[in-house]
Amino acid sequence: MTETKVLLPESALPARWYNVAADMPNRPQPVRHPGTGNPVGPDDLAPLFPMELILQEVSDAPEIPIPEPVREILRLWRPTPLIRALRLEQALGTKSRIFYKYEGVSPAGSHKPNTAVAQAYYSKQEGRKRLATETGAGQWGSALALACRLLGLECKVYMVKVSYHQKPYRRSMMETWGASVVASPSEETQSGHAILEADPDSPGSLGIAISEAVEDAAGREDAAYALGSVLNHVLLHQTVIGQEALAQVELAGAFPDVVIGCVGGGSNFAGLAFPFIREKIAGKEIDVLACEPAACPTLTRGPFAYDFGDTGQLTPLVPMHTLGHDFIPAGIHAGGLRYHGVAPLISQLVLDGLVRAEAYAQNDVFASAVTFAGSEGIIPAPESAHAIHGAVLRAMAADDEGVERTILFNLSGHGHFDMAAYDDYLGGRLEDFALPEDEIQRALAAIEPLPKPA
Ligand SMILES: Cc1ncc(COP(=O)(O)O)c(C=O)c1O
Repeated sequence: MTETKVLLPESALPARWYNVAADMPNRPQPVRHPGTGNPVGPDDLAPLFPMELILQEVSDAPEIPIPEPVREILRLWRPTPLIRALRLEQALGTKSRIFYKYEGVSPAGSHKPNTAVAQAYYSKQEGRKRLATETGAGQWGSALALACRLLGLECKVYMVKVSYHQKPYRRSMMETWGASVVASPSEETQSGHAILEADPDSPGSLGIAISEAVEDAAGREDAAYALGSVLNHVLLHQTVIGQEALAQVELAGAFPDVVIGCVGGGSNFAGLAFPFIREKIAGKEIDVLACEPAACPTLTRGPFAYDFGDTGQLTPLVPMHTLGHDFIPAGIHAGGLRYHGVAPLISQLVLDGLVRAEAYAQNDVFASAVTFAGSEGIIPAPESAHAIHGAVLRAMAADDEGVERTILFNLSGHGHFDMAAYDDYLGGRLEDFALPEDEIQRALAAIEPLPKPA
């Protein structure tokens, strides 16, 4: 009998985070100050982030110890299961083996608490009392609300307006954990006010919500800003996923030919993929695939350039694949993938050919999500369903080529708060947005005057 679940004991929870920057053939280029164009130093970031996180952001160390109080909280749900998708394999009729790492078992329902707990911990250690953040799908906001509650901090969440209305119970969840939540763009910040003045019906975007949260945190001495993705330290904290998965595939007597994750800012993808990229750099052959929405095709259609991380141009300039900071993606249901940029670490790995990317239309993604729900039982988050779709396509391609592959993907979260999206899909109301090249070029004009990567 083939085991369905590969479970690790709590003692196998990783003791260190893995820092891919130490092994990359080319380090990402520095983050730059928008005014001077000079690399940003720790002092520039200190008003927004605790120093320990800033040091992790620029660290060259291959591994960084996870503080014991953080591990203690992670043990509430970690190690997460690795599951052999036997029923999905049967439903597809594939000869390939498919495994998934299931991050939806966390209290907030996704991988996001892995970094939320660490960020709240370091903020508390440095005496900050309040964290401000943005949230797209509501998963990150829920994760930070949970972490702040467990560690005794105040939490303020700017939630992208389209998601705020699509997912009222995500807001209730955050409020249950004591957070205060507002729809973004809001009148509570100057950045939000400026957007509403230009477009009172703006659906919001992660870029706008980040501007609001940064402005909020910068305006108060006892506050820090917390970001749920993109930054090096956030990706670092997620590497517990891939480290556990490496141990689990070994227990299952397997090693993946393909490693797959969906990409918004890139944190769940990095969390699973980076420990495998370490193996790839050391000589293993692995196809590492990043899956994104065709409505926000940052890696597949955006250039590698310096750009702001937010719409209001409050952040430093980040070297990344980008669609331009004022690109507002269509209101697709994978709200967590509606971000104009992608983490610099992943952008550099794509440039260096260690990661490749594909973009999918949302109706195709939901078709795979429904197949998955009907075979494995779990109703996936629409974001995670992009990774499922990637795995389904790889398995079908292997069958066409007459080969058997071992495929591993990250199921980054469940979709229990996304039933409106499933309703739209099942009711035939889900639109596929073909993004015209003109719109990409229009948005990219905004980054024309910015410094160019070397
Ligand atoms: C379940 C889930 N998966 C993936 C993502 C995308 O973020 P990231 O690329 O940082 O993993 C989100 C973001 O909200 C999410 O909620």
